[in-house]
Amino acid sequence: MGKIILTGDRPTGRLHLGHYVGSLKRRVELQNSGEFDKIFIMIADAQALTDNADNPEKVRQNVIEVALDYLSVGLDPAKSTLFVQTHVPELCELAFYYMNLVSVSRVQRNPTVKTEIQMRGFEKSIPMGFFSYPVSQASDITAFKATTVPVGEDQAPMIELTREIVNRFNNIYGPTLVEPEILLPDTQVCMRLPGTDGKAKMSKSLGNCIYLSDTPKEVKKKVNSMYTDPEHLTIESPGHLEGNCPFIYLDAFASDEQVTRFAPDYKSLQEVKDHYTRGGLGDGTVKKLLINVLEEMLAPIRERRAYWEQRIPEVYEILRTGSEKAREAAAETLNQVREAMKINYFADSALIAEQAKKYKSGKS
Ligand code: TRP
Repeated sequence: MGKIILTGDRPTGRLHLGHYVGSLKRRVELQNSGEFDKIFIMIADAQALTDNADNPEKVRQNVIEVALDYLSVGLDPAKSTLFVQTHVPELCELAFYYMNLVSVSRVQRNPTVKTEIQMRGFEKSIPMGFFSYPVSQASDITAFKATTVPVGEDQAPMIELTREIVNRFNNIYGPTLVEPEILLPDTQVCMRLPGTDGKAKMSKSLGNCIYLSDTPKEVKKKVNSMYTDPEHLTIESPGHLEGNCPFIYLDAFASDEQVTRFAPDYKSLQEVKDHYTRGGLGDGTVKKLLINVLEEMLAPIRERRAYWEQRIPEVYEILRTGSEKAREAAAETLNQVREAMKINYFADSALIAEQAKKYKSGKS
């Protein structure tokens, strides 16, 4: 059996550098590796509505933003099926059956759900749809028989739950679903890129993001106001690297080759770091290096975005045909699920014959 990828994002905002190092970059590499038979990338608008029920316009506006971000980083609709979750209604039906296989307390223990409940102030009254989104995520993954789910570490509890559901389902109804594996980012700094303010996570609500669609001017301004080392008061004073944003970002984005090209005095990022810790290297120089590195990466992304921004109807068409294709795949799994659960009454001639016989012989 082939290798299949399913992953996706909630359309609640434009995608940023944290998304890029945490998942988008990897997705494009996986797409181009040729190792996967099928790749499904989903815009999770139904999931976004589970905590934005009162703000459908936000979700509606951001479907296209996320699609543009996908295309701009190099996801290619000829290789990856880009689709919209609400346009694959089979996913809802699967989730409805899976809910019978999961206990309330199991979801209550999910650490990602726990933090989200706190962050959204849902403690007193949790919407049922929101509470059940981890189960719906299991449908997203299993509907496509995904073997591989490339996501950030905050999604690990969802993949774990999916595996449990798969096992329970297969045990009760017979082997039907595929157990997926999580594929995490390969380095610590890619796991969780801090915000430009040095806070643990780049996040829209904290206002500390560099977006993939930011202009060169915006990128420059954001890098120049980045949190560095508060004790590094003069160029001469020895600096600290810990929690120092420009250095964390350089670790995530810069190659030694780029360092030598943009800062010819140094042969490697390590040499830059050594100079900074020793003293004699100013934040401005480090930030300038980072701006160069980021711009080299962002320029082609921006260029592709500009191309697709001029072709919006075409982008919606890509999502529409992608959703159709995704629907076919999900429908096939749903049929197998219905068969396994023996709720396919009308296609089950043995059942019909059995019931008919029962009544003919007068036994009821
Ligand atoms: N929960 C993911 C996020 O918040 C989005 C998502 C929905 C997803 N369904 C998925 C990710 C299935 C991977 C697999 O970004």
